[in-house]
Amino acid sequence: SSRINVAIDGPAGAGKSTVARKVAQQLGYVYIDTGAMYRAVAYAANRAGIPASDAARLSELMTTVEISLEPGADGQLVRLNGEDITTAIRSREVTLQVSEIASHESVRIKLVEMQRGLAAMKGIVMDGRDIGSHVLPNAEVKVFLIASARVRALRRFQELSGSEIVPLEQLEKEIVERDRSDESRQISPLTCAKDAVVVDSTELSIDQVVTVILDLCRTKT
Ligand code: C5P
Repeated sequence: SSRINVAIDGPAGAGKSTVARKVAQQLGYVYIDTGAMYRAVAYAANRAGIPASDAARLSELMTTVEISLEPGADGQLVRLNGEDITTAIRSREVTLQVSEIASHESVRIKLVEMQRGLAAMKGIVMDGRDIGSHVLPNAEVKVFLIASARVRALRRFQELSGSEIVPLEQLEKEIVERDRSDESRQISPLTCAKDAVVVDSTELSIDQVVTVILDLCRTKT
């Protein structure tokens, strides 16, 4: 059977990364988390003291950042100019700023080019916001994964620990706000590609969603 590309898009917290990782495992494919790349840029900007609104300085920053994704012991390792920032990019600070960072053209141009390069050999599962609609318009399988805002907030809430505890209502508000921001940006906003299959995970387990996607892949390989 031939190798294909699988695009999984959708709003924040719909379970894309968990599901994409498992689908990749099952197919023996490489998983690529594009959100991690945008988070890496947000982290780099933050550290350089560049506000998320500063297009000129962000554009300059993009000429110096080198982001790499590599398989690690427990999941994907994210590096910024060689430094391991896998944990740092999950901070609340990064999460609250990443959407505005991701709205800049200079940021998207560079990351999309990287993403297309990584997918050129086929056999990848890529998750994000604009993969099926923009990055890989020819992906053989396109899934748009959704779930109710409450369930998505609840899943995030259950992942939080220790000093990070944020009230569920607050999390839900932030998730809805980030989706609104991702959907309304000018350049390749979060949208369901015309040929994507919508999967609602509100009442499905992770394994049920994985099965649905693997079945879609089977018809294409
Ligand atoms: O997937 P994750 O929630 O980690 O993505 C973080 C942010 O990165 C998103 O809210 C969005 O603003 C941006 N992003 C994007 N395009 C992608 C993936 C992520 O704009 N393909």
